[in-house]
Amino acid sequence: MKIAVTAANGHLGTSIVNELKREIGKENVIGIVRTPEKASHLGIEIRKGDYNSRDDFNTALKGIDSLLLISGMDDPQKRIQQHRNVIEAAKQNGVKKIVYTSIIGDEEKTAFSPIVKSNRQTEKDVRESGLNWAIGRNGIYIEPDLEYIDTYTKEGEIRNCAQDGKCGYTSRKELGFAYTQMLIDDKHNGQIYNLVGELITQTQLAEYINQVFHTNLTYKSVSVEAYENERKEELGDFIGTVIAGIYNGIKIGVNNVHSDFEKASGRPHKSTIELMETFKKK
Ligand SMILES: NC(=O)c1ccc[n+]([C@@H]2O[C@H](COP(=O)([O-])OP(=O)(O)OC[C@H]3O[C@@H](n4cnc5c(N)ncnc54)[C@H](OP(=O)(O)O)[C@@H]3O)[C@@H](O)[C@H]2O)c1
Repeated sequence: MKIAVTAANGHLGTSIVNELKREIGKENVIGIVRTPEKASHLGIEIRKGDYNSRDDFNTALKGIDSLLLISGMDDPQKRIQQHRNVIEAAKQNGVKKIVYTSIIGDEEKTAFSPIVKSNRQTEKDVRESGLNWAIGRNGIYIEPDLEYIDTYTKEGEIRNCAQDGKCGYTSRKELGFAYTQMLIDDKHNGQIYNLVGELITQTQLAEYINQVFHTNLTYKSVSVEAYENERKEELGDFIGTVIAGIYNGIKIGVNNVHSDFEKASGRPHKSTIELMETFKKK
């Protein structure tokens, strides 16, 4: 069985490729990437695939049995067609199964909703493709928060608008493990899974970081408007608005969802403390 992973050189792609290599052997894993020069670290066959090019995927998907489609990073409206390029090429090439990495979130209520909505459209396109399929809705990655600890420490606090909303953070390593099982085991066909970990508040997040990284952070809650203005100033309008929308989503409860991680992967999700300890060892 040959399994291909798109955006294979990214953080999530690399994690999935590494798990797949362990499970089915490196000769059966193909990485499809926009920039082949950036993929030599993977140690597998690499083919070129830019989501904007249906032709790239017509070539890249030859002889592939199952495909992992990682959601793109572009403007939400562009993403839908980009993902369709991959899905259409998969159909044309006789790919039998497609697994898509979607996202937890609400389609209407926050500034992050346009991105969630585009992911839901791709979910629909995947479900209606006629191929076998499985879909994961990813929780928020914990790594960017942990990479930000120096800034949190300088500021003495974690400050955002999530208030006491709960969020099931996950990690790209945990996701890599779950997606590998979803690819290789057909019992997952036709399933949509929430891939999230332990549900915690921002206050708990600060406490866990203090415990593992010996910091002294507190959580400070600010209004959605104040947080959006602050993020826009720091990161520019597009990303600033998206980040504020994500924390607004946590505040209103969209990340407070049950987890299907164990169903998808066959084992419980690691605790938040364990995710942090794994990150620290890197
Ligand atoms: N759950 C979360 O918290 C969260 C956070 C951020 C993002 N995401 C989503 O999860 C996805 C994977 O995350 P990640 O951590 O692996 O991100 P990442 O490390 O930034 O990798 C993004 C990957 O997407 C590829 N890519 C971008 N545009 C492409 C195109 N037009 N055609 C083909 N490949 C393209 C990049 O290729 P190049 O190296 O050539 O640029 C790279 O391999 C993201 O794309 C995003 O949709 C989720």
